[in-house]
Amino acid sequence: MTIVEEIQKLKQEKNAVILAHYYVRPEVQDIADYIGDSFYLSRVATELSESTIVFCGVSFMGESAKILNPDKTVLMPDPTADCPMAHMADVESIKKVRKEYEDVAVVCYINSTAALKEYSDVCVTSANAVKIVKALPNKNIYFIPDRNLAHFVADQVPEKHFIYNEGFCPTHERMEADEVREAKEEHPDALVLSHPECNTEVLKLSDYIGSTSGIIKYATESPCNEFIICTEEGVHYKLVQNNPDKHFYYPKTVPVCPNMKKNTLEKVLHVLKTGKNEVHVSDSLRENSKKPLERMLELGK
Ligand code: 13P
Ligand code: SF4
Repeated sequence: MTIVEEIQKLKQEKNAVILAHYYVRPEVQDIADYIGDSFYLSRVATELSESTIVFCGVSFMGESAKILNPDKTVLMPDPTADCPMAHMADVESIKKVRKEYEDVAVVCYINSTAALKEYSDVCVTSANAVKIVKALPNKNIYFIPDRNLAHFVADQVPEKHFIYNEGFCPTHERMEADEVREAKEEHPDALVLSHPECNTEVLKLSDYIGSTSGIIKYATESPCNEFIICTEEGVHYKLVQNNPDKHFYYPKTVPVCPNMKKNTLEKVLHVLKTGKNEVHVSDSLRENSKKPLERMLELGK
């Protein structure tokens, strides 16, 4: 039996379902039942009938799935696959900002630990942040942890006052505007499609800014034939599947998230066989961090 056949067989036997983010390896995307961006996957996680979820992504994704589905078993193929940005804010700063501003909403990018969500008013993803911030009644927005997404949202919602936090995604932050310009010189007709986690200089050069799903949708629906993609290279697989006749280029230093790449077929098989790497969230943490996630699902509809 091949490893893929073994995974399929065990999935049936264990009543399991496999979720994967667009940044994971192509062979892992291939065995997934649902592939998508963070918002899609967190919504799907609330609609599943299977008793076990294998989450091919990073810790905050598995944690959110568990918080929204306390009765299900959530397994991570590699428990060390963590998003560094998820830890780049702190509860002390949240408490300080709450004291300082009477009318403040703490808006927490889903790429964050449950411990940060617990102290937040609402979660957002890159796909719904603008819509949700606009819908909030509060004048002041403390946006954690990502400063780049925060600035992107602030530009779209000028009527609100933003308080920033200095978190960032190492994979997106490192992308260089000069390399995007070079790619643009080589391919002058290509449109630049970027994830809002990119630094401001890269975003300024972009024709479209959106979540991974947004980028894939834009490229698929666009009459244009060539694109420079400024996000993690895992999206390439779906871009080419959807658009076999279009051309996709990257800046010279191709962005790779080392944590997303920790998900392999061997590790998926291992957790299905052994039930190891189960995600656990304490009852009180789950109760408190569930509220901002549920508010996101409600406001993001
Ligand atoms: P999406 O919100 O597009 O899924 O992005 C998640 C992520 O981790 C980006 O680095
Ligand atoms: Fe985190 Fe960046 Fe990796 Fe996304 S790409 S999981 S934000 S480190």
